Amino acid sequence: THQWRGIIEEYRDRLPVSDSTPVVTLREGGTPLVPAQVLSERTGCEVHLKVEGANPTGSFKDRGMTMAISKAKEEGAQAVICASTGNTSASAAAYAVRAGMVSAVLVPQGKIALGKMGQALVHGAKILQVDGNFDDCLTLARGLSENYPVALVNSVNPVRIEGQKTAAFEIVDMLGDAPDIHVLPVGNAGNITAYWKGYTEYAGDKVATKTPRMWGFQASGSAPIVRGEVVKDPSTIATAIRIGNPASWKFALAARDESGGLIDEVTDREILRAYRLLASQEGVFVEPASAASVAGLLKAAEQGKVDPGQRIVCTVTGNGLKDPDWAVAGAPQPVTVPVDAAAAAERLGLA
Ligand code: F0G
Repeated sequence: THQWRGIIEEYRDRLPVSDSTPVVTLREGGTPLVPAQVLSERTGCEVHLKVEGANPTGSFKDRGMTMAISKAKEEGAQAVICASTGNTSASAAAYAVRAGMVSAVLVPQGKIALGKMGQALVHGAKILQVDGNFDDCLTLARGLSENYPVALVNSVNPVRIEGQKTAAFEIVDMLGDAPDIHVLPVGNAGNITAYWKGYTEYAGDKVATKTPRMWGFQASGSAPIVRGEVVKDPSTIATAIRIGNPASWKFALAARDESGGLIDEVTDREILRAYRLLASQEGVFVEPASAASVAGLLKAAEQGKVDPGQRIVCTVTGNGLKDPDWAVAGAPQPVTVPVDAAAAAERLGLA
């Protein structure tokens, strides 16, 4: 009779909420931590996947959004706005419905996955496609929130980071301590910032005995942190992380340096290889951006950077159903058969 209550109720004492905060929740968080058999074999480590695609709107954004929308409601906001590569907007749209608020979302034209667009539409968001990239959308969203009566719910809003840090809490609560390495895809760099905050908080309060090394991976065509300069025209098939000027850039560098970690890049080819491996060998269907963490781990292992015997968690950030084009592309067409057991058995190689 007891179900997970959502991250605000589960971690209330570690979040900036009070008794007068209206909790707007879809019972996000409490996501599976799945042992990854094939990745463990390949690396000689104990690898786990934190499957954030199991959140209510299919991505980790729900952890931050329950906080952002609850706080916006507490402050009397009637409308919220965000810039997004698709997942933040899907989440904002859903939580705004729960709160009885209007949501407005700014997305880069032609560069968000169909499933995510469908989510924003079906939840009744006001959608503007911007003639520009995510970074342009964020500039516009910030400007609108400064000059009009609308609350910004991007991860530049610090309560988003507070909500997202709960994923690190869940991992420590589940494993009994922090892992040795935590691997994440990096786009706007809010999530790596949030995990690092969660891990350092738990270590500071002696809930964990250590903090992990933070390993972040950007897509090669959108790797400003790796290059050390803004990428004006970012490109990658992993549209969720197609970002050239991350808002939390300096926090990502702090997470890397304070943890003794790294931020590196993976090519689209490496991302797609990891995407297919996760689906076909681990049974976990993620969207391409999510596979950047696993692609990065495999790359590091091939470079000899992964000592065996370590405990490693890879966050896979979003559900594969959001962007199924990549699952279908390049796969063989299913064959059609008559309603005939012999014919079907033959096609299945059973006969
Ligand atoms: N993975 C997925 C599936 C994402 O949607 C995002 C970011 C990231 C990774 C990167 O996380 O930005 O905190 O470094 N998506 C944002 C959005 C930008 O608008 O949905 P980050």
